[in-house]
Amino acid sequence: MPNRRTFLRQLAASGLTLPTFYHTLQAQTDGLRYRAAAKNMFYGAATSEDRLRTDAAYRQAMIRECGIITPEYEMKWDRMRPSATTYNFVDSDYIVNFARQNGMLVHGHTLCWHRALPSWFFGTVNRSNAEQFLRDHIQAVVGRYRGQIHSWDVVNEVIETQDNTFNKLRNSLWYQYLGENYVDIAFRAAAQTDPSALLVYNEYGVEFDDNARRDAILGLLQRLKARRVPIHALGIQGHLRTADSAKFNANTAAFRKFLSDVAALGLKIIITEFDTDDRSLPTNTQQRDDGVGRLYGDFCSVVMNNPAVIGFITWGLTDKYTELNTSAPRPDRLPQRPLPLDLAMQRKSAWYALEWWFNNTSARPRTVTSVTAEALQQAPLDNVRCAPNPVSSWLDIQFRLEGSSQLSVSIIDSRGRVIATLANEVFQSGEHHIRWDAQESVNGLYWCSLKSLQGQTAIPVVVAR
Ligand code: GLA
Repeated sequence: MPNRRTFLRQLAASGLTLPTFYHTLQAQTDGLRYRAAAKNMFYGAATSEDRLRTDAAYRQAMIRECGIITPEYEMKWDRMRPSATTYNFVDSDYIVNFARQNGMLVHGHTLCWHRALPSWFFGTVNRSNAEQFLRDHIQAVVGRYRGQIHSWDVVNEVIETQDNTFNKLRNSLWYQYLGENYVDIAFRAAAQTDPSALLVYNEYGVEFDDNARRDAILGLLQRLKARRVPIHALGIQGHLRTADSAKFNANTAAFRKFLSDVAALGLKIIITEFDTDDRSLPTNTQQRDDGVGRLYGDFCSVVMNNPAVIGFITWGLTDKYTELNTSAPRPDRLPQRPLPLDLAMQRKSAWYALEWWFNNTSARPRTVTSVTAEALQQAPLDNVRCAPNPVSSWLDIQFRLEGSSQLSVSIIDSRGRVIATLANEVFQSGEHHIRWDAQESVNGLYWCSLKSLQGQTAIPVVVAR
């Protein structure tokens, strides 16, 4: 057992509140977040801020299970943009702060979509100003959370083969105003504003027999890569229905091939919104949970076997808050049971299916993926910046010194142990650049510590995937 001094040091190094720290210790090997992390992957769920604020049992379950969270509504245009000239960050700030306090990553959702647009948008945005609106929005939102977002859904639901457009792009307002170029504009603006975030194109409807849809998505990905657009991953939403279980299992080869084709473009894949509409299943709870769990397992047997798949996010953690009760109510009026935890936060077959697959899948390569920027404001040194590279395991540490100074730069793990001393010497005044390779470090929260004679700063760094 660690003694009190060790305990206090660990608590201080974790940056967590005491109850959260206790809880994290208890849950350390238990929740899905730790099973995923053991394979350098992440598991998490979409959440809204009001549930986190008001439901203590839910909050604890989220802390126990999730290594990443997606704001379900809080980062959509209609929540963030009360008017054409203003932004509201109150609720999104809450989510990002909650994630940081609990050592979680954030998957930002979504910067450009044809839905969830505020009503002022339709009378204000037009062909001549759409590009400026898109750029301004991305610069403001991505800029606010620069260094704090693991991955951004930069564009959402771009392809619609029924719309008969050139290249099968959805005939959305963004497309009507800017053509396919809106996708390029959005990715380039996001990359310029936060070079450390993993940039994702998020899409649905790739799991079944729709080759036209898969081909259109692949075509778009190929063109983006050819134009050197900074895209790093495809997000697969994964909103499934148990009614389609047989259809899913009948042709997994085409879905497997699609995943391989995406990976061959050098892209990562994230399952971003998984849930299973259980309307086809009978009233009996056990039968429903088994049917849902089986579909989780069937889906995992395809996606987890592709090493490009680095994370799995469900659209909610518990049946208590599934949006399917509104969008797809069951005929018998019973609540849907599409998620890993039940109404009382107990684990069900779906949870065990994910657990099994995380335990049995192969480990992904490690990369540094996220840095929390706020700590920089307290830095005694000027312009300290840690920039993780989204597709490698390097962390680039940059800083500027006004005069020469003795400086030690080290990496500290969440237990307060120095695991790497990167420098301990006199640095001359000017810009400096040091690299840390996280390849050999297990997933988790670390601190990049810079100690000079004037003081010390420690910047949180999350190693994940
Ligand atoms: C889409 C969107 C999400 C959410 C879900 C609801 O997948 O990307 O933001 O609205 O639909 O099922």
